Amino acid sequence: MEKKKFYLTTPIYYPSGNWHLGHSYTTVIADCLARYKRMQNFEVFFLTGTDEHGQKIEEKAKAADKTPQEFVDGLVVKLKDLWKLMNISYDKFIRTTDEYHVKAVQKIFKTLYDKGDIYKSEYEGWYCTPCESFWTKSQLKDGKCPDCGREVKLTKEESYFFRLSKYQDRILKLYEDNPEFLQPVSRVNEMKNNFLLPGLQDIAVSRTTFKWGVPVTFDDKHIVYVWIDALSNYITALGYASEDDSDFKKFWPADVHLMAKEIVRFHSIIWPALLMALDLPLPKKIYGHGWLLFNGDKMSKSKGNVADPFVLCNRYGVDAIRYYLLKEIPFGQDAVYSDESLLKVINSDLCNDLGNLVSRTVAMINQYFNGEIPDLTKLLPEDEGLVQKVKELYAKVSVYMDALQISQALNEIMKTVQRANKYIDETAPWVLAKDSAKTDRLKTVLYNLAETIRVTALLLKPFVPSTPDKIYKILGLKKAPQTFDEIKNNLFTGSIKGAKVDASAPKLFPRLDIGKELKELSAKEEINENLEKIDKIDKNNKENKNMNTEEKEITDGTITIDDFFKTRLVTAKILTAEKVEKADKLLKFTLDTGDGVRTVVSGIAKYYTCEELIGKVVVLVKNLKPVKLRGILSEGMLLCASDENDRVRLVTPDGDVTVGCEVR
Ligand code: MSP
Repeated sequence: MEKKKFYLTTPIYYPSGNWHLGHSYTTVIADCLARYKRMQNFEVFFLTGTDEHGQKIEEKAKAADKTPQEFVDGLVVKLKDLWKLMNISYDKFIRTTDEYHVKAVQKIFKTLYDKGDIYKSEYEGWYCTPCESFWTKSQLKDGKCPDCGREVKLTKEESYFFRLSKYQDRILKLYEDNPEFLQPVSRVNEMKNNFLLPGLQDIAVSRTTFKWGVPVTFDDKHIVYVWIDALSNYITALGYASEDDSDFKKFWPADVHLMAKEIVRFHSIIWPALLMALDLPLPKKIYGHGWLLFNGDKMSKSKGNVADPFVLCNRYGVDAIRYYLLKEIPFGQDAVYSDESLLKVINSDLCNDLGNLVSRTVAMINQYFNGEIPDLTKLLPEDEGLVQKVKELYAKVSVYMDALQISQALNEIMKTVQRANKYIDETAPWVLAKDSAKTDRLKTVLYNLAETIRVTALLLKPFVPSTPDKIYKILGLKKAPQTFDEIKNNLFTGSIKGAKVDASAPKLFPRLDIGKELKELSAKEEINENLEKIDKIDKNNKENKNMNTEEKEITDGTITIDDFFKTRLVTAKILTAEKVEKADKLLKFTLDTGDGVRTVVSGIAKYYTCEELIGKVVVLVKNLKPVKLRGILSEGMLLCASDENDRVRLVTPDGDVTVGCEVR
């Protein structure tokens, strides 16, 4: 019988190199779903990849003294390493610089142009460079980019346009006819109210101001603007518009496009419109999950965030990190990450609940039955609570997984694990073992426990792919099977009796000393920061030496230029300013530092109102050791001039300079 198909995608990642746990989230979810469907006998195509074109990359490559291609090549290797480490079982990794993709995008662009859905005009709009997005004046939020809150520039250029406005009614109808199309439902209202009902505008789909992109074949001044290039990956990866489109025929339309909420607009409005224009079927579902937050902000490496997936996976094991992401974040909502919550979950769920269930059961089988799983004799009414739960588990988990309620699915499995631990306490096998008349009962109890472990471990496989194999080995069974077939029916029938358990196996998840771990994690963070500082100082030293500066020993309180360069001063823009509760002098700022966003607390509340500060470009001491002020981590200091009359003024550059540039 031909297998049912399942095609799912993650967004393609910008090759930034600064991937944090928030980035891993989308991909771990997709991987879990892909594995789940494979275990349900679906033929799965799981796509991920990298989104490599655009002005930002062109600029970063230049700054790194590399060609854009060299620049992205190095980063893609690192991303692939991360996915390997995290056990991501993608079927294809697409790069938008792959030749087949470039050619297919060119064909798509030409087809749309020939049909009249793309036309040439002139664009005047507000452009946000970091987001690579154009906005109309009415879309701006307080004159800034509505997505990231940064400065936008009024830009005018010749451009090709896609007739998005033509598809407005069809997209509204799509949402109405298919309530399943865009999920969670809250995103539907967001799209309708913010974009569709105010009226869709045609969008610029080519650029002439930079070169790093897919060239428009019939007009060499232009390159294809990044969203057509990026979104098309979902079909070009399947061979659409190439000589071999067999995968496209087999797998399109996609079952699920997964992403975080800030890129839902592109996927639920522009992408369906493009597909409509190409006369192609639409994806079945777009799912926009929430963000992983750190200190209440969207997680970002540049904020000094330690949630580095490489560090965490190497220290606690990939399965522990996957478990945390999948279980602790209610899918669809935002959730706050902290090292402490991660460590607590590892101890409570994996070490206590799962680890102890396995080790207690195996130790008892070892002690009472010489390490051999006994046969069950007779189930009693007091077994029903556990047995029924285990028998119904696969069906319940499937319902949750089909509804993409991943954390609930995992929770259901873990509730069964907890129920089994309770069953041990209720049945007290150590008491049964003392009475030879109760040996049959003891056998049944231990069999039930081993069976529960077998079923729950297999169901855990898509979530934590390595642990179930270890558990099966400990139970004396072969490797965990590749499908769920064995646990759908015929449970508690004695099928695993006689297996030889391994009571000497190491603990699945050793208990963590949370206090010690927290210290070590923050020490790691400090080491990383210091290494960065040392790098920078070394670099400055080298540059200074090259300048042939005459160096003199000075002891009169003056400092050498090297000393001065130890302080990293950069320009930064104030994005938000707010009063700190119960602290009259303090203001809390969010600053754009060019390479990210930081929080800084400064004692200038007496001298400024919040409103007058927003948008100001100021000077930040960037490599100051972060300190907590009133519970807020302040990452740097703003330079101010103050005089004897208690006048305090922020130091600002005299005229227009970019944000993040060195002050020296
Ligand atoms: N290149 C675009 C996607 C184009 S798809 C046709 C992009 N790339 S990204 O690298 O910035 O983001 C990749 C994924 O990570 C997106 O789903 C993004 O929303 C997600 N996340 C980035 N930071 C995140 C959190 N802090 N939390 C959860 N998801 C996060 O966008």
